[in-house]
Amino acid sequence: MGLSDNAGGRTGLEPRWTPQIEIIESALESSLNDLPENAEAGLISAMRYAVGAGGKRLRPRLLLATVESLGLRSENALDAACAVELVHCASLVLDDLPAMDDASLRRGRRSVHLEFGEATAILVTHGLLAEAFRLIASNCRLMGLGGSETAEAVAFLATQVGVGGMVGGQAMDLSQDTVDAPETVLEEICRRKTASLICACVRIGGLLGRASDEILEALDLFAEKFGIAFQIRDDILDVLVTEEAAGKNVRQDQSNATLARRLGVDEARLLAESFERQALSALEGLKIDSGALKEHVLRHAD
Ligand code: IPE
Ligand code: IPE
Ligand code: MG
Ligand code: MG
Ligand code: MG
Repeated sequence: MGLSDNAGGRTGLEPRWTPQIEIIESALESSLNDLPENAEAGLISAMRYAVGAGGKRLRPRLLLATVESLGLRSENALDAACAVELVHCASLVLDDLPAMDDASLRRGRRSVHLEFGEATAILVTHGLLAEAFRLIASNCRLMGLGGSETAEAVAFLATQVGVGGMVGGQAMDLSQDTVDAPETVLEEICRRKTASLICACVRIGGLLGRASDEILEALDLFAEKFGIAFQIRDDILDVLVTEEAAGKNVRQDQSNATLARRLGVDEARLLAESFERQALSALEGLKIDSGALKEHVLRHAD
């Protein structure tokens, strides 16, 4: 089966992104075809299933938009774009495990552990992460980055995925200590578990595009604010939409604290809008072509 045979979880996605999503899908297909031929077939099928199951491909789109904003051709950054999507897919497989959110539905079909078993699902996450780091390093080489810039890109991704970033944010999210936590802590969970990887997309795009330190700093701020808004909106959808529309389980663990549940949908939406405004203003005055980056924020908001 081709990776794009399942479009589950893309309900309502702007047609504006379709051509770019098709390019990303075919790059993902080639990167999975490049996995070692002697690898265990069952594991490879499960990795393909985890990656191929639809999805909005936001993270690779943001990486490519960043590269383009710096005047470079985004075709040269497709490996790095695939890498951040592989990290994201790994995070979703982990997130759905029985010990985590215990979700049965992802992108409109059975979650990876139900289809292939838990042990394979765990190995899939390791396989995807390792491949992601390999792809980042190889794309840096392809675009002529030196050893120290390549190391910087790889280290940045590791930091954003690690205990101070996505993994740490997921741990906070699961912890009973945060059930009654103040709003600032709920915001910090959004920053760590979701904005961290979004920051990595934009920073790696910035490094590939040889952005100055000043531009990198502004891009970091943009990504952080947009990432927080993105998770708040995901939590709003969790309150509002059906499983069919979301392509994933909704309203599953009612004891899990989110800003949408704590503040109510209307107030949470205002908060998301305020983060989106901060994301957009981070790009103001920068000497880059930030139109596509801004569009991601504007067209994601409802
Ligand atoms: C879902 O991310 C998990 C969050 C961090 C909110 P997406 O909404 O980007 O999921 P896909 O990739 O489109 O399935
Ligand atoms: C997951 O947040 C964030 C990740 C780092 C994967 P959610 O648990 O809200 O994601 P969904 O709603 O299952 O996609
Ligand atoms: Mg979760
Ligand atoms: Mg979840
Ligand atoms: Mg969610």
